[in-house]
Amino acid sequence: MKNYKTKICIILGTRPEIIKMAPIVRECQKKGLDYFILHTGQHYSQKMDEIFFKDLNLPGSKYNLKTGGQPYRKQVGIMVKNITAVLLKEKPDAVVVQGDTISVLAGALAANKLGIKLVHHEAGLRSHDTSMLEEVIRVIVDHISDLLMVPTEDALKNLQQEGKDLGKVFVTGNTIVDAVLQNAKIADKKTKILKKLKLKNRDYFLTTFHRAENVDKKERLEKILKGLELVFCKFNIPIIFPIHPRTKNKISEFKLALPKGVFETEPAGFLEFLQLEKNAKLILTDSGGIQEEAFILGVPCVTLRDNTERSETIKLKMNMLAGTNPKKILEATEKMIGRKIAKGDKKNPFGDGKAAEKIIRIILEEQKYE
Ligand code: UD1
Ligand code: UDP
Repeated sequence: MKNYKTKICIILGTRPEIIKMAPIVRECQKKGLDYFILHTGQHYSQKMDEIFFKDLNLPGSKYNLKTGGQPYRKQVGIMVKNITAVLLKEKPDAVVVQGDTISVLAGALAANKLGIKLVHHEAGLRSHDTSMLEEVIRVIVDHISDLLMVPTEDALKNLQQEGKDLGKVFVTGNTIVDAVLQNAKIADKKTKILKKLKLKNRDYFLTTFHRAENVDKKERLEKILKGLELVFCKFNIPIIFPIHPRTKNKISEFKLALPKGVFETEPAGFLEFLQLEKNAKLILTDSGGIQEEAFILGVPCVTLRDNTERSETIKLKMNMLAGTNPKKILEATEKMIGRKIAKGDKKNPFGDGKAAEKIIRIILEEQKYE
């Protein structure tokens, strides 16, 4: 049994990773653990990065590799090289990565090569669509991880079907539930975004989309915008659109315009975004995390994709896949409006808000018996 403190390296790089790692950081702080944050710098604009450290009251990262804005093939190489250098210097016992971004892939490759225990939070998610880079990353990282922290029973089944060694898999829930529960009341108190945007409760739609598959192709992006136009024509309430920088760049590059009724804002901080989600009539999105949050907050969701790895939200009838066909986007919106979580389905498939506590407990337990 080891007699020194377990040292944990938390790797993150993008907006959703900062949000979903925050409860894990908080747990490390609470337990007085030896840990540090390594930021790949994949996201770097103030509204995609710093604002979340502030909103979530997080300590700064010890390292920032500043790799943002470069092509992936170059970025992954630089990340692996520089993460390896940090890991060699710091010698952590465990490296924690979360989700399916290239920061996760680079962190996982570096830890695996050095033989450092690799912990994957949000393991087991599958869209079964390998044209999505994120799906490829999920499969690779799950198959080289030492400890797989699985958020839901569906994710566990996915791993069982792939023949994973179940000794290493733990169903913990998703830390997004922890983050929402920890911050919803704070958001109520601290933010005035509805007032600022002159919005009334349940009298607006909220939309976000940024997936490469949707916005890097002019035709698909145009179809989504057309779908939003049809939604506005039918319901005549504003569609609020905190725009991801990738989407903003592509709309400008393709010389497209936002349709009437769609109001662009800068990307919102987490507290403001929670407020916007919570009070929306319905959310239209291609985001993974937002599909989960819509469910947690009981707001109906239309997903602007042909598939999803958040299968639970579909089964529980709070989310519907619309793809990018404008008519389908309108039809799905009409079907989902007013939808509420069925009385018997109150148990949240994404967990009970204690995922971070479980994840840290498991890491420490596993380390004890090395
Ligand atoms: C990445 C993830 C995606 C995740 C998303 C969360 C990969 C392959 N993709 O996609 O899975 O859902 O983050 O938001 O890892 N940009 C800025 N400022 C920023 C960040 C990005 O201007 O702070 C612009 C840059 O032009 C950049 C582009 O957006 O090149 C795309 O950013 P990138 O991190 O490569 O991919 P995302 O689309 O954000
Ligand atoms: N989010 C935010 N402000 C925004 C849009 C999203 O705080 O303007 C948060 C949202 O609450 C969720 C996360 O960002 O927790 C989702 O990130 P994103 O959609 O970029 O990535 P994905 O989940 O698709 O990987």
